Amino acid sequence: MQGVLDILRRRQSARIPFDSKRPVAKEDLKQIFEAARWAPTAHNMQNFEIIIVDDKKILGAIESIKSTVSETFIRENYEQLSFSEEELLRKKVGILGTMFPLAWRTPGYKPDKDIDSRRPIQTSPVMLIVVYDPDRRAPASEGDFLGIVSLGCIMENMWLMANSLGISFHVVSAIGTDPVEKEIKRILNIPDHLKIPFAFRLGYPVSPPAKYLRVRRDIEDFTHHNRFGNRWKESKDSGSDQ
Ligand SMILES: Cc1cc2nc3c(=O)[nH]c(=O)nc-3n(C[C@H](O)[C@H](O)[C@H](O)COP(=O)(O)O)c2cc1C
Repeated sequence: MQGVLDILRRRQSARIPFDSKRPVAKEDLKQIFEAARWAPTAHNMQNFEIIIVDDKKILGAIESIKSTVSETFIRENYEQLSFSEEELLRKKVGILGTMFPLAWRTPGYKPDKDIDSRRPIQTSPVMLIVVYDPDRRAPASEGDFLGIVSLGCIMENMWLMANSLGISFHVVSAIGTDPVEKEIKRILNIPDHLKIPFAFRLGYPVSPPAKYLRVRRDIEDFTHHNRFGNRWKESKDSGSDQ
């Protein structure tokens, strides 16, 4: 049991450049796809396709797609940020503001096409683009909520497998927003009716990644015993409702 928890705790985001000269072995990619294969999906829809991009020219073309950071992103991003480690430790949720470029953490900032919102994609040995068909919906699921949750299960399975193999993993979700999505669909010849929920960069860091503070709520912060608001206690006598 401890082994599973260790794998879960060690999984983390790698928002860093990868070594372009160190490819991800095909055997390892196969393991990552095997993990995707066995992910749970609503109605066992298996509602995903994965495009493996390791052609430097195509990666370069993806990296150079022009995009702006929306005002909505800047406003909502700001709401999730902490500006010191103390603040983040106290809140237990969110991200340290220093993870983002200054313009992305400045409310009221007027988006400008000159903001560089690009990620180090061309130097990544491989990028995996996940694609799904929004018309193949989880039955009677409003907004295909369950279908979309299923994509999250696929993400997590692949991420855990990659990290277990010592491969760093970075989710790039901006890729699924217009105009980037439209341009990627053109470059990769993806049929129009399909959507890109997210993509991942995979590889090995150029230099050892700096440690960053990762926080989580405590168990009793999010568990409720029998009734909402009635905190579940971790201690042995937690069986009794208060
Ligand atoms: C659905 C989803 C989308 C995400 N999109 C991005 C993203 O676009 N860029 C990014 O750097 N991290 C992204 N992340 C990573 C989260 O920010 C990260 O998991 C969270 O801050 C916790 O940090 P950890 O992964 O190191 O534990 C995403 C994670 C999920 C589950």
